[in-house]
Amino acid sequence: MITTDQTVETFLDYFRERGHRLTPDGSLIPSPEDPVLFTSSGMHPLTPYLRGRPHPLGRRLTGLQRCLRTTDLDEVGDDTHLTVFEMLGSWSLGDYHGPQSLRWGFELLRDGFGIDPNRMHVTVFGGDERVEPDHESWRTWNDLGVPVEPTTDDNWWSNGPTGLCGPDSEIFVWTGDDIPQGTPTSDDRWVEVWNHVMMRYVRHPDGSLEPMHRPCVDTGMGLERLVRILQNTPSVFDIDVFEPWLTTLPRLWGQLDERSLRLLSDHLRSSIVVLGDRVTPSPSGRGHILRRLIRRTLTTLWRDDPTRTLSDLPIELVEHTLEHFRQSAHPQDVRTVLLDEQRKFDLLLQRGRKVLSHRRFSGSLTDDDYRYLHDTHGLPRDLVVYLITGVG
Ligand code: SER
Repeated sequence: MITTDQTVETFLDYFRERGHRLTPDGSLIPSPEDPVLFTSSGMHPLTPYLRGRPHPLGRRLTGLQRCLRTTDLDEVGDDTHLTVFEMLGSWSLGDYHGPQSLRWGFELLRDGFGIDPNRMHVTVFGGDERVEPDHESWRTWNDLGVPVEPTTDDNWWSNGPTGLCGPDSEIFVWTGDDIPQGTPTSDDRWVEVWNHVMMRYVRHPDGSLEPMHRPCVDTGMGLERLVRILQNTPSVFDIDVFEPWLTTLPRLWGQLDERSLRLLSDHLRSSIVVLGDRVTPSPSGRGHILRRLIRRTLTTLWRDDPTRTLSDLPIELVEHTLEHFRQSAHPQDVRTVLLDEQRKFDLLLQRGRKVLSHRRFSGSLTDDDYRYLHDTHGLPRDLVVYLITGVG
């Protein structure tokens, strides 16, 4: 069975053999000119080069990039979503065009990874009032014999409300036990693995689309999702890189229901990676996202048993994670911040319980109550709700 590391090598080798140079590993912290809080796509470190600046490594690039997405936070625990994940990517900076990228993508999935073309389905941009359908991609997939579904919103990729954008074509693989049926938008056993974006426009603040002088191709494939398919596991949590988490956590903290085990594995692993990129917990910005991840970990951990503690987390898990993500932070420093944050949160909860035991708060709370609790006692609304309902 192919491992995650071998999957990465196969991908990068394939593109290196086709003239692509390997981009250096990027951090989760985007460059100041990028409007996003965290790198959430493999292309973020390349934004200036996609927009026209010559890249020192040339016009064909490939790489592996760690990413963080908080838009999917509530979906973490299902079979496909992770907070921190890795993205394999290939880029043409004004070099070859979309059809070439799609052909290579198809060939790599079929011949490099052995995915049966009968288990593939793709979607393409079907056009809207401003941009015509992506005929070129449509024709390419027809030539390759892969079924195509056109959509509008799902096949338009943009890097935020302004900036780079264009039609995309997504490749889905069937994960059901029986023969493939339906289409990607009608049956969620079609799992999206690879997105090929035809970056042709820059969107301006007034909403207008300016065609790029030098269109690019930006592709991104979720590594863990691909490995899930290659290792034929029921979810991304059952692939090799999660094995240490899934065996260690129940040993530390006893029986955990499936969703909690997945959430703890995802959030702890993600927190370690964010800390590994030298972010520390704080009330706003990146540090706030980190704080939310750690606090959700703790509320999940303490729901059934308040004596559980992150002090039990073996340093080897921290080391293993930092190593996997090629980060140089010291494991002991990462662990120290986690424990410090746990202590602060514990104290905050104790204070919150004491304040809320006051008669004034025995009925349902008004907006004024929440404001008072926040401004005078430093208790944020979501924390108060958690203390009252036990749901974090
Ligand atoms: N930018 C595209 C995405 O994130 C392809 O990498 O899906």
